Amino acid sequence: MSFIESIKDILNKAVADCFPGSGQAFECQVAPCQDRQFGDYQSNLAFLLAKREKTGPREIAGAVVESVRKEAKGTDFKSVPGIPANLSPAIIESIEIAGPGFINIRLKDTALLSELARTLADPRCGVERTARPQRIVVDYSSPNLAKDLHVGTMRSTVIGDSIARVLEFLGHEVLRQNHYGDWGANFGVLVAMIKQEYDSGLGGLEAAPLEAVEELYARGSALKASSGEFARRAAEEVNNLQAGNPESLAVWQALTDKTLHACHSLYWEFNVSLDASHDCPESFYRDDLPGVISELSEKGLLVEDNNALCAYLDGFLNVDGDPLPVIVQKSDAGYNYSTTDLAGIRHRVGRLGAQQIIIVTDRGQELHFRMIRALAQKAGWLPDSVPLRHLGYGVILQEIRDNGQTRKARFRTRSGGTVKIRELLAEGRRRSEALTLDRNPDIGAEELDGIVGKLTIAALKYADLKQRPESDYTFNWDQMLANQGNTGIYILYCYVRIASLFRKAGLDLAGAGPDALAITHELERELLLQVVSFPELFSGYEEELSSHNICSYLYELAGCYSRFWKDCPILTADDEVRHSRLVLSRAVAARLELGLSLLGIEVVERM
Ligand code: ARG
Repeated sequence: MSFIESIKDILNKAVADCFPGSGQAFECQVAPCQDRQFGDYQSNLAFLLAKREKTGPREIAGAVVESVRKEAKGTDFKSVPGIPANLSPAIIESIEIAGPGFINIRLKDTALLSELARTLADPRCGVERTARPQRIVVDYSSPNLAKDLHVGTMRSTVIGDSIARVLEFLGHEVLRQNHYGDWGANFGVLVAMIKQEYDSGLGGLEAAPLEAVEELYARGSALKASSGEFARRAAEEVNNLQAGNPESLAVWQALTDKTLHACHSLYWEFNVSLDASHDCPESFYRDDLPGVISELSEKGLLVEDNNALCAYLDGFLNVDGDPLPVIVQKSDAGYNYSTTDLAGIRHRVGRLGAQQIIIVTDRGQELHFRMIRALAQKAGWLPDSVPLRHLGYGVILQEIRDNGQTRKARFRTRSGGTVKIRELLAEGRRRSEALTLDRNPDIGAEELDGIVGKLTIAALKYADLKQRPESDYTFNWDQMLANQGNTGIYILYCYVRIASLFRKAGLDLAGAGPDALAITHELERELLLQVVSFPELFSGYEEELSSHNICSYLYELAGCYSRFWKDCPILTADDEVRHSRLVLSRAVAARLELGLSLLGIEVVERM
């Protein structure tokens, strides 16, 4: 149990004792104190309870404070190695009323130190596994294969990967699913184009660069718009694929193999925990699609509308107030994105036994998923007990300066095209190489290469993850690679500082033991409190999927460390103090490393 949970427990008990009427079902709110000089944690319980009790908040706070003090009195704090310190009011040093009725609590140094000692060798840094593990599908990255991966997909990839890592860390069984788009109209166009232009066989296509596929698709779409003859052939190829025509399927297979290979190598380079075993693309469901339609129709959920099959659901209207359909089979008999998503839900719940499904895409698909959810529930494929959660993220912007004015626009290449992840990584590497060489002119080529890759990933992922996913963010290389401010590089820099400290002290990071710890400086205490509060980060994670909170925590921790570093000499301090400070530094490094790894970022020893 984290300190914050323990304090809630202690306060809840006191409230129940003092106010048996309204106190029974009451849940206290506790938060870290904004200004740490007033205490470590604060509760506003008195204000909430005042309404129910019809008493002033200060009186309520007074009663609760007295009750906790009485409990804490005489219970001497004793640390028991290996057992959490935070079990009784004995962890509380002081509890005070502030202002109109806030309750401020300060913990005993010994309680904090004993928690530090207890978790020092713990690879989980004190974070417990969930008591209710679930099987959770996380559907992320899921690019459309007709083109190279671009920045839009990058957000799904980075955000989804962090969610999958954290849920797994918390003890859930995570089924990663890469529901990439490799089926439907786009592929009809591509197969028709390939047949037309690569008639000498698929060897030419295999050797062609990935750009050739994109270029082929662009020309194909233009052709489809201008030539009825080509449009007819493209539609025919969609039908060929759906009907399992071997020749069309062979072309399609060569095409998807090629783009998929590029996709997997990018995941590897970008430290994304997706590989071929997580592939579960749209085409995976092709044999299920007719069954999806027949089941929906047996359940009386479909109507025919201009030759297309549609479902109408209560409460979904378009801008004119007319009912909005979910189209599940188009007038040309083709299936679409909705059909595959329904098949996906049926498969994930029915065959995979998912207890929760999380899908990460751009914000624009919010309505689609609300309608799919409603339809799947009506069809009986999605029981109420299984949440289908769509996490919609915002767009990436860039600042554009023209005529002395700056404005924000979607992030694009200079020529107005979509930015590819591959190109971003290359650019990031160029920039971080220059910065690293500047700081370490004598570094060897191999070490440089490793560092540069990790810095690039840290900069890109952290910039994406540090805000709430639904917000837009502005892409800016200089900002994300800065070693000041809330950046991945700043956090890595803090880790590097500690690593070099340990190199200087001739210890490895695992070296300093937990015994005989002491606090001798207020900044040490501030840092210690931040260190031992690490588990608090995860208490609401499952509900909020809040990787951005991990970033805020790391940023604060690194900030605390840098203040400590400035004012608290380590290697030159007396033996006992030196030991405590090394232990504390090591604990900081462990939280930085673990926290970053949950964001998909690896640490470096030097930069
Ligand atoms: N391919 C889609 C896109 O690029 C995302 C797919 C997300 N997953 C899903 N089950 N629909 O927008």
